[in-house]
Amino acid sequence: FLSQIGPDAHMRMILRKPPGQRTIDDSEIIYEELLHIKALSHLSTTVKRELAGVLIFESHPKAGTVLFNQGEEGTSWYIILKGSVNVVIYGKGVVCTLHEGDDFGKLALVNDAPRAASIVLREDNCHFLRVDKEDFNRILRDVEANTVRLKEHDQDVLVLEKIPAGNRVSNQGNSQPQHKYIVMSGTPEKILEHFLETMRLEATLNEATDSALNDFIMMHCVFMPNSQLCPALMAQYPSPSQGTEQEKMDYALNNKRRVIRLVLQWAALYGDLLQEDEAALAFLEEFYVSVSDDTRMIAALKEQLPELEKIVKQVSEEPKAPQKKHKVLLQLFNTSDDRAQKRQPIRGSDEVLFKVYCIDQTYTTIRVPVSSSVKEVISAVADKLGSGEGLIIVKMSSGGEKVVLKPHDVSVFTTLSVNGRLFACPRDQFDSLAPLPEQEGPSTGTVGTFELMSSKDLAHQMTIYDWELFNCVHELELIYHTFGRHNFKKTTANLDLFLRRFNEIQFWVVTEICLCSQLSKRVQLLKKYIKIAAHCKEYKNLNSFFAIIMGLSNVAVSRLSLTWERMIANTVRTVKFCRSQSFNPDAALTNKNHQDVRSYVRQLNVIDNQRTLSQMSHRLEPRRA
Ligand code: CMP
Repeated sequence: FLSQIGPDAHMRMILRKPPGQRTIDDSEIIYEELLHIKALSHLSTTVKRELAGVLIFESHPKAGTVLFNQGEEGTSWYIILKGSVNVVIYGKGVVCTLHEGDDFGKLALVNDAPRAASIVLREDNCHFLRVDKEDFNRILRDVEANTVRLKEHDQDVLVLEKIPAGNRVSNQGNSQPQHKYIVMSGTPEKILEHFLETMRLEATLNEATDSALNDFIMMHCVFMPNSQLCPALMAQYPSPSQGTEQEKMDYALNNKRRVIRLVLQWAALYGDLLQEDEAALAFLEEFYVSVSDDTRMIAALKEQLPELEKIVKQVSEEPKAPQKKHKVLLQLFNTSDDRAQKRQPIRGSDEVLFKVYCIDQTYTTIRVPVSSSVKEVISAVADKLGSGEGLIIVKMSSGGEKVVLKPHDVSVFTTLSVNGRLFACPRDQFDSLAPLPEQEGPSTGTVGTFELMSSKDLAHQMTIYDWELFNCVHELELIYHTFGRHNFKKTTANLDLFLRRFNEIQFWVVTEICLCSQLSKRVQLLKKYIKIAAHCKEYKNLNSFFAIIMGLSNVAVSRLSLTWERMIANTVRTVKFCRSQSFNPDAALTNKNHQDVRSYVRQLNVIDNQRTLSQMSHRLEPRRA
């Protein structure tokens, strides 16, 4: 704008004045001009008026002038009034060009991070408006646009979105930002670059300061598998650039330390799982060699080396120890010497001895890695049977529900229902497959055994077992489970078994009650389960607690009115006791005027037609193919 109407000498003179010396008239003139600037169009009148008081004019005569360098501390935000600049990133060169009306340099201010790129003048005689960091933070930081889009070669590579920075305890001083930018989307490499840039090196590894970084390390497998992450990390670890100026050396050193930090965090998350991932192992060793080479030249890197060394030693030596080699698991996913040792997490490479049934209800036992795909299971069965032409693998539930597994399905053993079995047959026999008699389960209950055990002991042992199963679940299994195991070709065996235990407990409750023919015994049993559930809750084992409650609410149990009626005396006593207690609402909350909350919670409007709800649900998110 200024250039078009000719940035007259008067305007430039005003803009060059130190802000403290500007008159009200000066500010008014500047304000009028700000109304035409694209980069400011989303800002309110108040903010523009404030800006008018602090904006500084800056011009540079020569193309090629570096306004600032990548890696430097950010001190100002810029708007281009005239001319254009190149955005340059080490190792990439010019990633985009910004023109009149564009702005740049706010990332470092908003994220308190080093400059993400260098800015180089593309032509002679460029004019800028500059807002210095303190003014930016005071006036703009919290009113800045909700999204920041970074482009490289005309493609969005990173989209950041503003969110509230969370509750700050004391916020009298205005220095604490109310908002921060988080990553919404982007290319994997740019996201990695961003997290490296905004990483806080001064925080120790154990301080979980940066949860966004932790999330990235946890979730990267969804959009950036190790086979992509590892080379990207290697590329971000710059090779020693001798002979460059001190500034660049410092920058490279800082970068190296960031990458090392990220690799350490990444390796810590994976832990034992690293062994399953050859790409990751190879990378770790290569990386270690680079870092230890560097420590000879750069003393500052020595600090992080021991930790890296420890991890590399751990993962590279472990497979050689015979007892740590893969386990052999039996059909029920115990090892044969389970009693002797603490339960170990199941790994994808562990082998399982598993029965696969044929149409005549005979079976073959195959021995395959837990993480095998259906295709691999088929070929193991075919090996045993001597012919594998057109075999399919079918999951059969005790109720006779049959599902043909797809060749790329994984975790087939652990995702079977409690009494489910695997069948193998030629496709044309599918229709005649029927469940095995043994899938029906027991015909007599075990109440005789467990009525002698105290409810508390039962709950205690159940909790210990739940804990063991739970402890074996790796966080990544949740991610593999949610985003589809077959996409990662990773086992979720530990999670599957933990989930399956829940169903097992539910059906245990229903089974025992339904197998108990004597009414008085059944009442005892019901009481016993309620007690066990109460003890589980005491132990904070909500898993078993809810499993038992759901077992008790299974219609097969809840419809047993004779049994429940005998318990009515108990219930009446409980109700009476509860009503005798007084309710002490939180006085502070009650006194506040919560009229709308109060009336809202008393008048819930709901759809109670389950069919309608299911239809709506499917419309929202149709079944995945
Ligand atoms: P900052 O990190 O403060 O300094 C460099 C600026 O370049 C950065 O803020 C952005 O405003 C701007 N920029 C534009 N495109 C990109 C890009 N693709 N990557 C990084 N920075 C970019």
